Amino acid sequence: MRFGHFDDKNREYVITTPKTPYPWINYLGTESFFGLVSHLGGGYCFYRDARLRRLTRYRYNNVPVDNGGRYYYVVDGSDYWSPTFMPVKRPLDRFECRHGLGYTRITGERNGVTAEVLYFVPLGETCEVHQVTLKNQSSQKKTLTLFSFVEFCLWNAWDDMTNFQRNFSTGEVEIEGSTIYHKTEYRERRNHFAFFHVNQPLLGFDTDRETFLGTYNGFGEPEVVAQGKPRNSVASGWHPIGSHAITVELEPGAEKQLVFVLGYVENPKEEKWERPGVINKRRAHQLIERFSTPEAVARAFGKLQEHWQGLLSSYQVKSPDEKLDRMVNIWNQYQCMVTFNMSRSASYFESGIGRGMGFRDSNQDLLGFVHLVPERARERILDIAATQCPDGSAYHQYQPLTKRGNHDIGSGFNDDPLWLILGVAAYIKETGDVAILDENVPFDNDPNDTATLLEHCKRSFDHVLNNLGPHGLPLIGRADWNDCLNLNCFSETPDESYQTTQNRTGRTAESVFIAGMFVHIGPEYAALCERKGLAEEAARARAEVAKMEKVVLEHGWDGAWFLRAYDFFGNKVGSNECEDGKIFIEPQGFCVMAGIGVKTGEAVKALDSVKERLDTRYGIVLQNPAYKEYHVELGEISSYPPGYKENAGIFCHNNPWVAIAETVVGRPERAFEYYKKIAPAYLEEISEIHRLEPYVYAQMIAGKDAVRHGEAKNSWLTGTAAWNFVAVSQYLLGVRPEWDGLVVKPCLPKEFGEFTVERRCRGATYVIHVKNSGGTTPSLKVDGKPIPGHVVPYQPAGSRVVVECTT
Ligand code: BGC
Repeated sequence: MRFGHFDDKNREYVITTPKTPYPWINYLGTESFFGLVSHLGGGYCFYRDARLRRLTRYRYNNVPVDNGGRYYYVVDGSDYWSPTFMPVKRPLDRFECRHGLGYTRITGERNGVTAEVLYFVPLGETCEVHQVTLKNQSSQKKTLTLFSFVEFCLWNAWDDMTNFQRNFSTGEVEIEGSTIYHKTEYRERRNHFAFFHVNQPLLGFDTDRETFLGTYNGFGEPEVVAQGKPRNSVASGWHPIGSHAITVELEPGAEKQLVFVLGYVENPKEEKWERPGVINKRRAHQLIERFSTPEAVARAFGKLQEHWQGLLSSYQVKSPDEKLDRMVNIWNQYQCMVTFNMSRSASYFESGIGRGMGFRDSNQDLLGFVHLVPERARERILDIAATQCPDGSAYHQYQPLTKRGNHDIGSGFNDDPLWLILGVAAYIKETGDVAILDENVPFDNDPNDTATLLEHCKRSFDHVLNNLGPHGLPLIGRADWNDCLNLNCFSETPDESYQTTQNRTGRTAESVFIAGMFVHIGPEYAALCERKGLAEEAARARAEVAKMEKVVLEHGWDGAWFLRAYDFFGNKVGSNECEDGKIFIEPQGFCVMAGIGVKTGEAVKALDSVKERLDTRYGIVLQNPAYKEYHVELGEISSYPPGYKENAGIFCHNNPWVAIAETVVGRPERAFEYYKKIAPAYLEEISEIHRLEPYVYAQMIAGKDAVRHGEAKNSWLTGTAAWNFVAVSQYLLGVRPEWDGLVVKPCLPKEFGEFTVERRCRGATYVIHVKNSGGTTPSLKVDGKPIPGHVVPYQPAGSRVVVECTT
């Protein structure tokens, strides 16, 4: 069942009922100011850090699920309603929510009045603009009162929801004309404040929540709105809010636009005050001035659209499959940008107060983002590398505001270091910017201990070699990619974290997955060395990779698939010998991507085992059979009920590894089948089962052992976005930047038909027509001339090259 439809021309998803199976959300903002907005106007916004600079309050895990946002109330005679349906929930004659790239437009209609709210964050600004358009569709004159509403968060979202003994006394506001200023803690150490403005004279305002709602009322029944009269309340402690009341008179057919600006301002310390106790509002006035008319809003909105048009034009496909096209051209790239910006901080499943930027996560996010804004990827790489420790290990996470490694979680996830090499390689392939390898980057943010980025990559590579176990496989440490496979943890105590608790010391538990990573990523390190003329170091690296490949085949092969690990006692994990957890997806994907066993037959066998034992109608489960009970020697993975999360859920992050692996062994049908199974646009028709947004990937879909097989959780912030974009754009459609040119090597079934990819890379544009007959060794012509192999040499910036590819 569908709850809306795609509008590809406008690059929007159009939701046509408020009653989607779960809130379907969108993101506003591109660089420093961000908002989350659901199809019901729910959500919140923040400046840079979702925990420390939150402008508006949002209560997670609330009842009903999506309660609180930037709300508007229309009072029409004795009736009042919300165009976003929430919070008043009065039935609407028409409802529509259009989630677009960086904006959301929600329209409600009731009793002859249409109210549309357009939410967006203008480029380069630290504010949200809400443009409200009211239209009288009836044949009578209407005198309406419009109430706005936001509830301010007292900045630090964690403190805001826990420290009430202090917080109920700190709230402060100022009101000036049509602007409400939120200045809690500005009197002391904060040099920032928020404001909420409308470009109209007011009938009145309210800034105290209890006065506005009534002590025992919810957002859906504010006393002030019910009575149609603002009370001009001035918050003092308790709960500061911003609410404007405006009278709007509309003749039949007439409409009126109002521009609301919800902004964030920082003042230099010496310029904080206009006079004692009164904020210096100069910067706020300037910001307000920039959006004082609907024309200014239209210009800013136009710029935002152009911005996205420009970004997305670096990879566009035209194929007979409209679902694939809309994923590749619009939504998958968009999600890659959002994950790059947010890492795993703020979504409807991540509270914005927990995780910082993941070392592993951010490097992987880069893979799907680097073609969009390479300069920002460069900056990110240097930030990430600066949190690496001198021995090559890495902080598992770092904080976005300080860019420092997070001591609470620490290091010891032994896959982390290798992801840095993958990120750096992807960046240089995209840009040709080899000079980044010479950048001086600190270890652990210590300015007195620095080395080149290349040296950081060497430490990553050597960290694996310095930490090998009894079979010569890499030690797993706390965990590898699978955060929940905790082989040294042995946790028996409720409430302790599997990821941070004191581990047993022992150098036995080994990861075949990290071995696969090493074989896949090690050659990238060798190639980096070659770029710098370090032939000997490159040869050393290649020799180590070859050695590891042998070790995997000797100690990491279980007969019909790759083993997952050896545990603390040296027992096999992910082996046919095990009762549960006989086979895991991760090593099958990564070892085959690395090319292990491709010539000798193990690769195909492993992938056939995946098909036989892990594949389901909704995607490939992480392992099988699911653990039926808790295994202290395996950790968190066995803590989940069967079918959820790492215990045999469909982890969408590593499904594309298998799709890519299928292209490595030349099986386009299987690769495409796996791609389609979890790509959201293909799941639109089963939205009642999948439940989450049909335009973005979720981290997990419940596996075959789960009661709710097929149901997704944790949409938006997941490495799934980047890896699926890599799979479809680089391996299925087959266009990927390599060291010396653009590889064109599609792998799609014959029935898929012909298609054209337009790829911008290093300033040149490649128009690639693929005559697809399902083959996997294509022949290429560049500007009409045949070339050997499948690498199109990079062309000078500014050129436009036509590539014909016949498979
Ligand atoms: C984490 C990833 C991890 C994955 C599998 C995600 O929640 O962000 O870093 O690889 O779970 O455990």
